[in-house]
Amino acid sequence: MAQDPNAPETLPTDEELGRAGLELTVDGPVARLTISRPERRNAMTGRTWAAMARIGRTLPEDVRVVVLAGKGDIFSAGIDLKMFTPEGVDGERSIVAGLADGSADEADLDSYIAELQEGFTWLRRPDLVTVAAVRSHAIGAAFQLALSCDLRILADDAKFCMKEPALGLVPDLTGTKPLVDIVGVHRATEICLTARRVEAEEARELGLATLVVPADELEGAVSDAVSALLEVDADAATATKALLQGAPDHTLEEQSAAERKAQIGRLTALARAMAAQS
Ligand code: ACO
Repeated sequence: MAQDPNAPETLPTDEELGRAGLELTVDGPVARLTISRPERRNAMTGRTWAAMARIGRTLPEDVRVVVLAGKGDIFSAGIDLKMFTPEGVDGERSIVAGLADGSADEADLDSYIAELQEGFTWLRRPDLVTVAAVRSHAIGAAFQLALSCDLRILADDAKFCMKEPALGLVPDLTGTKPLVDIVGVHRATEICLTARRVEAEEARELGLATLVVPADELEGAVSDAVSALLEVDADAATATKALLQGAPDHTLEEQSAAERKAQIGRLTALARAMAAQS
């Protein structure tokens, strides 16, 4: 049956998720998104990120926390390297094929990469707190995915690697900004241009890991973090995340004004709630 083009967009079906190499469970305020292509070390494709962008657009409104993890004992080996071959991944566009035969131009590739980036940008939304639970490798696109999250909880066997420059590429899945914001431009340059592994303990020292725990305690540590996040008032959490996100681009004066504005919004809501109860 043909789909109604005016029908509201919905979460991907299990079949669509499966084809994108993803699993999703939504339980009240918590969504768990698992990268699931164990036979390819959870390597991701364009379809993975398109599905993630769609999930971002269609998550139920009461979801407050999103946990991202990899199936099994690895987060992800990054992009599926077949994406860079002329034949590409089955049923998907090859990134390079159009360039080789001249059928894709710069504008076309620009909009394609922008689509892929949408799979990462929604994780910054102020109304969500996003948590990456990382075991073993998070390479290239997977490192950038972890960098798109608010919290990175690492098993002690975790390792980040920004592999792109070693493959003749740049990191282009929205990871360069958070990397520089966290470690500074000099350390970011060293990490990217050597494409070396940053192991869990160093990641913690650099502020790339929120927390490092023994691998068998990762699930418990993530559950504890999720419980703590849910204890906080949802609207206060959204307003605070928005405030913090704006801080780096503001002067002290601008940020002070932003704090006042946000607080007036909060106090007004609290006063209204009190009045409604009395
Ligand atoms: N794309 C496609 N297939 C992959 C990828 C990948 N990124 N990573 C692993 N696989 C496949 C392997 O080809 C292999 O397939 P096979 O069983 O058919 O031979 C299978 O997954 C298992 O991989 P191994 O290398 O045998 O697993 P191992 O545990 O020894 O190593 C590791 C894991 C370190 C992740 C290694 O596979 C690796 O370095 N992968 C490539 C990482 C990479 O360069 N990613 C791209 C970064 S750039 C970006 O993301 C934009």
